Amino acid sequence: MKFSFNKKIIAITGAANGIGRAAAILLATEGAKIIAIDKDKKSLDKLKLKLRNKCILKNINCINLDDIKINLKDIKIIDGLVNCAGIVPQNNLMNCSEVEWNHTLNTNLTSVFYITQYFMKVFLKRKKGSIVNISSVASSIKGVKRRFAYSTSKAAIIGLTKSIAADYSSKGIRCNVICPGTVDTPTWRKRVLSANNPIQTRKDYNSRQIIGRVGKPEEISDLILFLLSDRSSFVTGSVYNIDGGMSL
Ligand SMILES: NC(=O)c1ccc[n+]([C@@H]2O[C@H](COP(=O)([O-])OP(=O)(O)OC[C@H]3O[C@@H](n4cnc5c(N)ncnc54)[C@H](O)[C@@H]3O)[C@@H](O)[C@H]2O)c1
Repeated sequence: MKFSFNKKIIAITGAANGIGRAAAILLATEGAKIIAIDKDKKSLDKLKLKLRNKCILKNINCINLDDIKINLKDIKIIDGLVNCAGIVPQNNLMNCSEVEWNHTLNTNLTSVFYITQYFMKVFLKRKKGSIVNISSVASSIKGVKRRFAYSTSKAAIIGLTKSIAADYSSKGIRCNVICPGTVDTPTWRKRVLSANNPIQTRKDYNSRQIIGRVGKPEEISDLILFLLSDRSSFVTGSVYNIDGGMSL
């Protein structure tokens, strides 16, 4: 299947690491220019070394609306948006503090509202666009232990996606959501290493997927590419699990 991303401009939040970074590299390889948005400046700079003139860096904290408005005002054209920035706090109802709750919802949900509303003006003007949100299997898809605030935020992303698709698909703007299972990214590795027994924890994570291993970021970015491309022109409001069978 051929994809044409030549002269396409794609904004990606969380582009500096993990799934967002893999998507940035794949899309740039396919010819897209990447607006790489992330609060992690050091990792953004590393991405720039790899992608060079195929990417523009935007060192932004996506929970700060002023930061978004000031730093993105020069971006007048985009063809696609990937909302990938996120955090994975581990808590349950009884040990989730109000601070952690608010920070999780702000980072994983409110930031998506801010960024998508900001770019929707561009999409509406151009009467086209494709938005891909990254949720998780730990959401309304499946209850996962110690993911209380996280799953709440990710379930909301599924609702947000369907709502945007309902309102804007007739205006040429598609919106879909991907729900990954466990994926080998820097923050996942940190979670494994900070556990009491990292070897057992890694085994436990692997066995959550029926396939018997965690996913690679590149296994998620392939679907991101498809959903951003014109090859998925009849797909909107859809929820895609890529989870090695975790949700079965
Ligand atoms: N890795 C997994 O197992 C997994 C599974 C399901 C869903 N996800 C989701 O995929 C997305 C990417 O996860 P990942 O594992 O690649 O994580 P990651 O930590 O490797 O990358 C996330 C990136 O988001 C950035 N970020 C976080 N908060 C930000 C903010 N407020 N403003 C700007 N940038 C911010 C970080 O700096 C980082 O570069 C997340 O939304 C996560 O919830 C991950």
